[in-house]
Amino acid sequence: MSFKIPRSFIDQLLAKVDIVSLIGGSFSLKKAGKSWVACCPFHQEKTPSFTVSPDKQFYHCFGCGAHGNAISFLIAYEKMDFMEALKTLAHQQGMTLPSGGGEKENKDESTGLFEILEKVVRYYHQVLLKSEQAIFARQYLRERGLTLAILKTFEIGFAPPGWNTLSEQFSIDKKQTERWIQAGLLIQKDLDHTYDRFRNRIMFPIRDRKGYPIGFGGRVLTADEKPKYLNSPETPIFHKGYELYGLYSIVHKRERPSYLLVVEGYMDVIALVQQGITSSVATLGTALTKEHLELLFRYAPVVVFCFDGDSAGQMAAARALDVALPFLGNPHEIRFMVLPQNEDPDTWVRKIGKDSFEKHIKTAKPLATFLVESVSGACDLTQVDGQIKLIQLIKSKLEKTSDLMIRYPILQEVSRKTHIECSVLEKALEHTTEGTLPSFSTVSLSPPTPLVKKTIQLLLQFPVLAQKVEGAERLKGIQLPGIALLLHILERLQHSPSLSFAALFEDLRETDYEKQISQLIPLQTTLSEGEAGLELKGALKKLLAVKKQQNVEDLLQKSRTQPLSSEEKTRLQALLVSS
Ligand code: UTP
Ligand code: MN
Repeated sequence: MSFKIPRSFIDQLLAKVDIVSLIGGSFSLKKAGKSWVACCPFHQEKTPSFTVSPDKQFYHCFGCGAHGNAISFLIAYEKMDFMEALKTLAHQQGMTLPSGGGEKENKDESTGLFEILEKVVRYYHQVLLKSEQAIFARQYLRERGLTLAILKTFEIGFAPPGWNTLSEQFSIDKKQTERWIQAGLLIQKDLDHTYDRFRNRIMFPIRDRKGYPIGFGGRVLTADEKPKYLNSPETPIFHKGYELYGLYSIVHKRERPSYLLVVEGYMDVIALVQQGITSSVATLGTALTKEHLELLFRYAPVVVFCFDGDSAGQMAAARALDVALPFLGNPHEIRFMVLPQNEDPDTWVRKIGKDSFEKHIKTAKPLATFLVESVSGACDLTQVDGQIKLIQLIKSKLEKTSDLMIRYPILQEVSRKTHIECSVLEKALEHTTEGTLPSFSTVSLSPPTPLVKKTIQLLLQFPVLAQKVEGAERLKGIQLPGIALLLHILERLQHSPSLSFAALFEDLRETDYEKQISQLIPLQTTLSEGEAGLELKGALKKLLAVKKQQNVEDLLQKSRTQPLSSEEKTRLQALLVSS
């Protein structure tokens, strides 16, 4: 999104919101000391470990680690996206979002389009179930094994062969024509004439995750007609790169799935549901996008890709992998289920049945195995050249992720294949890299050291103490993980002492520091403010000592390779004397 809501607005909003009543509106919370608790909505449990803190305006589950502020809660629990969450909270607080953060599309316009599509979904469906014109379509679907129940579940329809069926059926007049064209159902032929986009096709209605109809996929009945599937064009309400077929029915089930299966086609989703496997979605005749993946991970931590065994399927898998790499890391995981040649999920599940198919989902290949296998196909690993080629190919993939938990299993897999030790591989990968491996080995994003962690914790527990810290800029340049985060928090609290932890957390949403701050959710403390102040003073002093030590070492290091300038010499002397 190009428009950015100003931080000051988000601060104000989070200062007004009460997270206890927000969450308490969704399920009941019990008072426990200063906080409120409940059984966690994000994992199965019998005793409550989900805690909501009114002081911090933050929730945290000690069982599964779920955590966040009011915005996070709406995103995680109510499945909103960031802007929806902001809008909802702002609305509850009687605040208006700064302009520019409005709807993607004009509301009135899209409402009209939804209504048109809803009418047509119902009409095509009735035609399929009842009309003479749909005899062959019904026969075709029967032959493919679809039951009446499943036709109804997916609201499958039939578009009659005529060129003007819709205009006649719905008496579309000149004034309305424009809307029907926008909905993707009519095509302008010349100034005065339109014709139906979908003719003589089996129709698969596509709904967004709120359940609104947004488009169709239409399949021909015979092998010699082209294209096999015709999809609605991009319209004000239909964006293929953002929508997934089948997601609506999954979202609206009470229980959240432990994984989502991504397949290629409409018929795959449908066949799987008919066999009792209800957690699959399909992309809509487009390659997987980053937005698809973000959407998928909102609903399940594990995404299993199940593409055809043919080469197009393999290409799709490779592409999915590239899109996914930057998103992976706890808890987001992807796996790959490779189908036998000439099978797609539809044909295969019918052959082997639900139980076997589910076993294959469960044993789908982990990312590391799949990646290394697919890449090593092109390398002769018995030769050194082939091994180098493999390392180089893997290197280009590894550049997309800085997460050690992702990188390490991949390194191990390469090591298994090439019999080269991991430590050597790591070096080799660094050497073959021009430029940098983003944040892989950078100090700043590793978990904060205990000293930095303690300092941040003290500030989070007693934000007022930030006011007393003088000369914060002296902390700059210390080479310890977490220092950048500490400086950020200090600066924010010095400017706005009443900021809640929720607001600080919000600053870092979708930044490299989000993970770091998640590891620093303030702990309960028994310290008084005075005691904490003393501890903070002590901790800052130690940090400055670390900086001094680092300066000394840097200067000594330099002096070994080149003469120091007189200014540097004086500095070194001063540092050594005062230590
Ligand atoms: P497939 O050609 O694999 O078809 O296309 P399928 O899903 O197995 O369909 P059946 O079993 O023959 O009926 C997979 C998906 O690619 C898109 C569609 O979304 C389809 O479901 N596609 C395919 C198109 O958009 N246009 C086409 O011409 C073909
Ligand atoms: Mn198929």
